[in-house]
Amino acid sequence: MVEAANDLDSIEAVRVSALGKKGKITALMKTLGGMDPEERKTTGAALNLLKDEIAALIASQEYALKKQALEQRLATETIDVSLSARPEKQGKIHPISQTMEELTTIFGSMGFIVSEGPDIEDDWHNFTALNFPPGHPAREMHDTFYLPDDPDETGEAAKKLLRTHTSTVQIRAMVEQGVPIKTIVMGRTYRSDYDITHTPMFHQCEGLVIDKDIHMGHLKGCLQDFAKAYFEVDDLPVQFRPSFFPFTEPSAEVDIGCSRKDGGLKIGAGEDWLEILGCGMVHPNVIKNCGYDPEEYQGFAFGMGVERITMLKYGIPDLRTFFESDIRWLQHYGFDPLDRPNRATGTK
Ligand code: PHE
Repeated sequence: MVEAANDLDSIEAVRVSALGKKGKITALMKTLGGMDPEERKTTGAALNLLKDEIAALIASQEYALKKQALEQRLATETIDVSLSARPEKQGKIHPISQTMEELTTIFGSMGFIVSEGPDIEDDWHNFTALNFPPGHPAREMHDTFYLPDDPDETGEAAKKLLRTHTSTVQIRAMVEQGVPIKTIVMGRTYRSDYDITHTPMFHQCEGLVIDKDIHMGHLKGCLQDFAKAYFEVDDLPVQFRPSFFPFTEPSAEVDIGCSRKDGGLKIGAGEDWLEILGCGMVHPNVIKNCGYDPEEYQGFAFGMGVERITMLKYGIPDLRTFFESDIRWLQHYGFDPLDRPNRATGTK
């Protein structure tokens, strides 16, 4: 009977007729009550065995039918990958991807390599190693998303979180790749915040240079060259304003010149300034935490919001629209897949 059932509806009918509330096996089970104890024991055991056997037969027939149905679908639903692209359906490169390509090109031409790290991090890489001592108030500034406690292999509850900045990869790069190092890091970062200039997930680009005899002049030159190349303005004014980060000392924020006339924003020499990134000389404690002697090795680091510099360069007014997946927005702000990312390639 089970094998004769050759579609999912009839297999269900078989199940109901045997094992359902009014099914044959169920009815037989009910007769157990009227038997004497000895008989009930042997018949009960035999019936249970029969019930399990029937259930197993039904399950394997059901599996075979589902498998057959899937194979049939896979055989008929093919995608013709040789079909030529239709212009009205052409995709665009998302502005975030475009900017990350540009950043890779510009820093790549200065000799930076690209490093990566995980989005899910531990407290040590996100805070402690970066010179945020436990209980330090700067930890609270980050609106961190913590994950539920997850005991590690030693049974210790390890506090996991979504990284609040890509500075975690400064630590990973120094520990895993060693020094000297000259690297950028691009990736997702997370903070619990949502308004016109904040989304819970956003992207950062981090830079780290560690070597012997690195000083603030290297930091300034590198970031001035970067700002001019990225914003494509040769005489772009760049200023360094003192700031604070636990993992750099001294620390600075970098502003570029702009003018705001008639409600518009123009990047270049003007009467106003726009903040684009944070930076500083890597704090000696951070170098020590990675196992190196800060008397021997020094360096600088910087970090910027990828969405922010994309909005500034391409005049995109609202951060939240980056993540709405609106195809009309992408048609407007997206980039042609065949465009070269930036003049730093020397082709523009
Ligand atoms: N991690 C900092 C932030 O998210 C930026 C930064 C990076 C500052 C590297 C200095 C050096 O705000």
